[in-house]
Amino acid sequence: MSRTLCTIREAGKHVEQPVTIGCWLHNIRSSGKIRFLQLRDGSGFMQGVVVKSEVSEEVWENAGKLTQESSLYITGIVKEDTRSKGGYELTVTGLEIIQIASEYPITPKEHGVDFLMDHRHLWIRSPRQRAILVVRAQIIRAVQEFFDERGFHLVDPPILTPSSCEGTTNLFHTKYFEEDAYLTQSGQLYMEAAAMALGRVYSFGPTFRAEKSKTRRHLIEFWMIEPEMAFVTHEENLEIQEQFVSHVVQSVLKNCRKELETLERDISKLENIQAPFPRITYDEAVEFLKKNGHEFEWGEDFGAPHETAIAQSYDKPVFITHYPTEIKAFYMKPDPSRPEVVLCADMIAPEGYGEIIGGSQRIDDPELMEERFLQHELSKEAYQWYLDLRKYGSVPHSGFGLGLERTVAWICGLDHVRETIPFPRLLYRLYP
Ligand code: 4AD
Ligand code: MG
Repeated sequence: MSRTLCTIREAGKHVEQPVTIGCWLHNIRSSGKIRFLQLRDGSGFMQGVVVKSEVSEEVWENAGKLTQESSLYITGIVKEDTRSKGGYELTVTGLEIIQIASEYPITPKEHGVDFLMDHRHLWIRSPRQRAILVVRAQIIRAVQEFFDERGFHLVDPPILTPSSCEGTTNLFHTKYFEEDAYLTQSGQLYMEAAAMALGRVYSFGPTFRAEKSKTRRHLIEFWMIEPEMAFVTHEENLEIQEQFVSHVVQSVLKNCRKELETLERDISKLENIQAPFPRITYDEAVEFLKKNGHEFEWGEDFGAPHETAIAQSYDKPVFITHYPTEIKAFYMKPDPSRPEVVLCADMIAPEGYGEIIGGSQRIDDPELMEERFLQHELSKEAYQWYLDLRKYGSVPHSGFGLGLERTVAWICGLDHVRETIPFPRLLYRLYP
């Protein structure tokens, strides 16, 4: 019989036909004269059934030798099986061992977080971790789809930069030959230049914050999607954000059903994520907090417990707009009718996942920008190019940054961002 090399994902196209699949043994269960092999190949999971009376002695013996994570080529007939998760099962006829794996450190029993983090290179093989990484990849696909379909151009800002974007306290320093350089905290300033050249742009890349924060929402290295749009004002910025986030969530629902099931995610909470999203001002948020027993003064920034409390009133992400100018970045445009607040918004995800987007309209007036440089003690030389954008055909423009990992955590329903990225860089963790 001829055989077709295929993946578990595509097995359904070969029902009642012989196929060969390159795979690993996830688990094995024996009951007398039948061996049930749980197989995985990265594309999915499938059960292979070896019946002693129907295979050669060699195949039966070899199946018995397989340890967890052993690699093999397995051959069999694809059977429809409505009881199984993937919908198909393999009636095994042949089995070729590639390698019998040494004793695998991650067993189906419970392991502590540190142990799993030390074995992250193996941990990502487990069904849960695989599901998260598949959802992450789908989110990235949906992000690119959204912007590419709307005429945005992908632009790549630099990783090594001579100055800071989001403040100087959490910069990673390095030497750039004789000069000082920093790992980027955000591509935004460069994206503003790109928006003046290409109109509507977005970037997708790694960003770095040397933050001594050990929380379930902070990574040292995380990935950001940063759109920047010429001629777009604060209000329009919010509309694009809510459409964008709705699109991403709906795309995951459509394309990652199995993964969301593996993660036991409450799908109804995600189905509800459709634009428009509620908006409240910073002032209203402060009132709300005070009414609900939080000690909070106008002018303070929200911490995680505040964000969670505010988000609890909504079953969609909520925009908090018009923060005090004092506590926000130097580039945000003051509200013309009330310059003590800026035309900005943070998008707070529901279910306690906190801020997933920070965005604003940008200052377009060169004089005000120079004033800000002084106030924030930013050297005029370092930011001269950024000021140029306000001198040569300045226009109203806005943008935002979506943190990929917090978005993955929210959509997957995870307790901690450490599981949202293949190899998390956390405070005091650089291995593996
Ligand atoms: O609010 P942030 O700091 O905004 C900026 O960097 C702007 N320059 C973006 C822009 O307008 N182009 O960061 C944006 C988002 C946050 O809302 C959060 O989702 C994520 O990035 N983020 C982090 N994610 C994981 N770990 C960290 N340490 C993060 N810091 C920010
Ligand atoms: Mg922010």
